Amino acid sequence: MEISYIQLMEERHSVRTFDGRPVPMEIRDRLIQAAEQTESPFGAKARAELIEQAPGAGTPHLGTYGVIKGAALYMGIVSQRHHFELEHIGYVGQELLLLAQSMGLSGCWLGGTFNKTVFAKAMGLGEKEIMPAVIPLGWPADKVRMTEKVMRTTTKADSRLPWDQLFFRDSFKVPLTEKAAGHYAAALECIRLAPSAVNKQPWRIIFHDHGFHFYQAHTINTPGREMDIQRIDMGIAMCQFHLAMKELGAVGRFAERPQDGVSADTEWDYLISYVK
Ligand SMILES: Cc1cc2nc3c(=O)[nH]c(=O)nc-3n(C[C@H](O)[C@H](O)[C@H](O)COP(=O)(O)O)c2cc1C
Repeated sequence: MEISYIQLMEERHSVRTFDGRPVPMEIRDRLIQAAEQTESPFGAKARAELIEQAPGAGTPHLGTYGVIKGAALYMGIVSQRHHFELEHIGYVGQELLLLAQSMGLSGCWLGGTFNKTVFAKAMGLGEKEIMPAVIPLGWPADKVRMTEKVMRTTTKADSRLPWDQLFFRDSFKVPLTEKAAGHYAAALECIRLAPSAVNKQPWRIIFHDHGFHFYQAHTINTPGREMDIQRIDMGIAMCQFHLAMKELGAVGRFAERPQDGVSADTEWDYLISYVK
């Protein structure tokens, strides 16, 4: 049966407590293969580095500061350095996370609560590569820990910004309604459902006659930080939108078209456009 990515995106939520069962080799092979085949709009290559977490079996103990429990597998998305490396990692990682979900697994993006040095060593990161986030994978435990419940409450993980704060028509002055988005509403909703760091939802989209312009709002204070994690969120949103559009039968592509059909007077950063 064909995978419905839209359904997977509707059902997805982050899982941080797993039952510890190992992930079969076939699933691991499929993820590695898929990483090689995934074509991100940024044209670069990424690889998935998988590492088993089996304390006592000789593998290094991977640190997640108590946030993750019982994950049998960790997936790091590794990219060569380039201009859009973070968006690229977001795009590829989200496609793999959804693929893992289609095979019964759950997971959670980790951009902050993992020990970067330990993971980089365990995953054999090269000097010219980056791996800013990892994704623990496994089967959800029957019981969710209190720590996880608290995390979901503090990040308001189950809520999302309303449409009129995320999607616009022709300029940022006119909010786009679901009704006016028509055929494209389901794909835009897939952006709204996407995971984002601290659930801060930085995606802002202008819909116009030729396509969709993607902008990034800076809703996490990044000055002084080593990297802008919300660029990963943008790549994730692009992936969710692209998969949904393909499922809806649209054949568009991403390209840089900042001035196409809109006047966007804004403090938000233009990233890319989806051209119909
Ligand atoms: C790029 C990125 C980084 C994240 N980093 C962390 C993290 O370090 N620790 C964590 O517990 N959750 C992390 N999350 C998960 C978010 O908190 C979660 O996606 C958000 O609260 C929405 O909840 P949901 O995924 O269940 O819809 C991250 C998510 C993204 C997309």
